[in-house]
Amino acid sequence: MENQYIMKGGVPLKGEVTISGMKNSALGIIAAAIMTDETVTIDNLPNVRDINVLLDAIKGIGATVVRVDDHKVRINGSTISDVAIDYDAIRRIRASYYLLGALLGKYKEASVALPGGCDIGSRPIDQHLKGFRALGATATVEYGMVNTYADELTGSHIYLDVVSVGATINIMLAACMANGRTVIENAAKEPHIVDVANFLNSMGASIKGAGTDKIRINGVSRLHATEYSIVPDMIEAGTFMIAAAATKGDVIIKNVIPKHLEATSVKLIEIGAKVEEFDDAVRVYSSSRLGHTQIKTLPYPGFPTDMQPQMSMLLSLSEGTSTVTESIFENRFKYVDELSRMGAKIKVEGNVAIIEGVPGFTGAAITAPDLRAGAALVVAGLVADGITIVDSIKYIERGYEAFEDKLKALGAKIEKLAVDDERGVQKFKMMA
Ligand code: UD1
Repeated sequence: MENQYIMKGGVPLKGEVTISGMKNSALGIIAAAIMTDETVTIDNLPNVRDINVLLDAIKGIGATVVRVDDHKVRINGSTISDVAIDYDAIRRIRASYYLLGALLGKYKEASVALPGGCDIGSRPIDQHLKGFRALGATATVEYGMVNTYADELTGSHIYLDVVSVGATINIMLAACMANGRTVIENAAKEPHIVDVANFLNSMGASIKGAGTDKIRINGVSRLHATEYSIVPDMIEAGTFMIAAAATKGDVIIKNVIPKHLEATSVKLIEIGAKVEEFDDAVRVYSSSRLGHTQIKTLPYPGFPTDMQPQMSMLLSLSEGTSTVTESIFENRFKYVDELSRMGAKIKVEGNVAIIEGVPGFTGAAITAPDLRAGAALVVAGLVADGITIVDSIKYIERGYEAFEDKLKALGAKIEKLAVDDERGVQKFKMMA
């Protein structure tokens, strides 16, 4: 049964929220975990749908997966019996392609259903395939499957034509068990790349330079057991930072690495919100209407595309005219129509949104178009006058752990209801 969120806006969020482990790191790390025949323990795992789908996928090919608790899993790849993965669920998560790099590195062979994920524009995988070919593998796409095979993988010098998180991680996975030395130039520098590299190194890989645009990998013949804790999710943290500012609240966001949040912090400060940094927490508060700015999404350390819908939503409430340029994915303004129904004034021209700030939103029945935009619309509902209902929240559940519970603990009036629960809706309206 499909669920929806119902909200009554207008409560400033106050209190403390603890951030979960980074989904996009965890996806790479789970794939990497099957590359050893020894048992790997992964902690601070976010309990979200994308992660559970990927765990099911590796179980499906024979890996042993023991869920110790919601946030801890033990994986053993020695029982893998198949290098082909094709079923519906895997097509729905983008990161299923990490199994290509992991299986190719370990078994020199892999077939994985072509990835899906959020519909935020065309999402080619040519750079992943280019990397695999440079290591000496064949790589073809046929009948909706990506197939890759090598007699032997040999280290190589690879220059990425575009800065790609996925291609960087995938090539790193395959190359860490290739013969000899690989250099990835023009590599992506996102914190999750560093996290996956640290994890692989803790398994005995030899990867240097992750977090810079030149990654150097010396191949090893085997990887071993490890215990590892995933870094905090900078996008979940950033979403709560925006929620604090948008509701004119005061929130301490715990279990974060403030450095990873700088692009968002700097913009919040620029438009007038207050941001205080601690060792592993940030406090965001604001009491007055914020100002306008210009934003352009860029690869890390630039402003993250995954924070673009949330920030655009905030700028829609701010004074003056802002512009937001989306330079990573061409179709990432699909939430604009929904936000307009709540009163936002946004005009999209090509990859630029011109946002004329309005003093407030009004509640409406809207649909989450994808993961991050869905979260942005929920925050809009927490600001809006009256009742907002957001459906298609399955997208939000892909990447936000217990979103409504964390918001509720900050004072938000929000409930998750089945879409046909008319009585629940009436009850919420009466109580709110
Ligand atoms: C990852 C994140 C996603 C985030 C994005 C950018 C995961 C699971 N997802 O997605 O949340 O929005 O990084 O920070 O970690 N490109 C090519 N050819 C390729 C690969 C990519 O042209 O082979 C292009 C894409 O179309 C896009 C750009 O490169 O314009 C960046 O994409 P990429 O960094 O690969 O994004 P993902 O890894 O898919």
